[in-house]
Amino acid sequence: MHPMLNIAIRAARKAGDFIAKSVENTDNVETSQKGTNDFVTNIDQGAEQIIIDVIKKSYPEHNIVAEETGIVEGKDADYQWIIDPLDGTTNFVKGLPHFSVSIALRIKGRTEIACVYDPIRNELFSAQRGAGAQLNSRRIRVSVNKDLSGTILATGFPFKAKQHSESYVKIVSALFVDCADFRRTGSAALDLCYVAAGRVDGFFELGLKPWDMAAGELIAREAGALCTDFSGATDYMQSGNIVAAGPKVLKGILGKIRENANEAMMK
Ligand code: IPD
Ligand code: CA
Ligand code: CA
Ligand code: CA
Repeated sequence: MHPMLNIAIRAARKAGDFIAKSVENTDNVETSQKGTNDFVTNIDQGAEQIIIDVIKKSYPEHNIVAEETGIVEGKDADYQWIIDPLDGTTNFVKGLPHFSVSIALRIKGRTEIACVYDPIRNELFSAQRGAGAQLNSRRIRVSVNKDLSGTILATGFPFKAKQHSESYVKIVSALFVDCADFRRTGSAALDLCYVAAGRVDGFFELGLKPWDMAAGELIAREAGALCTDFSGATDYMQSGNIVAAGPKVLKGILGKIRENANEAMMK
């Protein structure tokens, strides 16, 4: 295993165990609001510090971009770690046991290493570019479908961008005619990993941040998924709008998006 993937996994497990412990003792959880419907807790911050400490100890010269801390600069600009210490904070705050720790490493602008850890189920999704994707030690693959029929699609509602509600509902409604059903799990990182594992057949969401997607998208692609933005291009890390699925389901989702999205969503 790549030594940097080893460090990523060590950091994710350490942070995940910290989060899981805090679920048992919710008296220690302090929640505040970053914006409308946008929560953060002292556990997000504590988990993030654990991850930063593990990475900095092994690679003090690397750069880090972390959701709660922002940019931690290092001397070597070629290496950039992208961290979401707790993906699914709203679930965590409500006591819904579905969230994850997400860590990716980009080298010279390309994601090389990724891991997403679900501490409640003890599931570790990981990938190294060119070497496939794994759940714990088992190889995972995206599902194979000939079109949208029978598919289960995961999505996230645009709760931070409600100006898009109407177009978003149109997309969901058009997809619902052809797919079997939807899931909205509340952790985009796990949604992408579930595409990778064939647990859902496709995923789309708009307005995501790089740390929501960086690890999950490599895991999904290494499992055979295609990832695009809403126009079918590959600018999702910039726009935050992502679609991930096997080739035929992706085509089906993009078709419905194209017919129903507003102009801003297609950029
Ligand atoms: C959120 C989760 C959620 C998605 C949101 C994200 P956070 O991340 O991934 O599923 O719908 O857009 O912001 O804030 O819990 O790390
Ligand atoms: Ca957040
Ligand atoms: Ca997130
Ligand atoms: Ca987060």
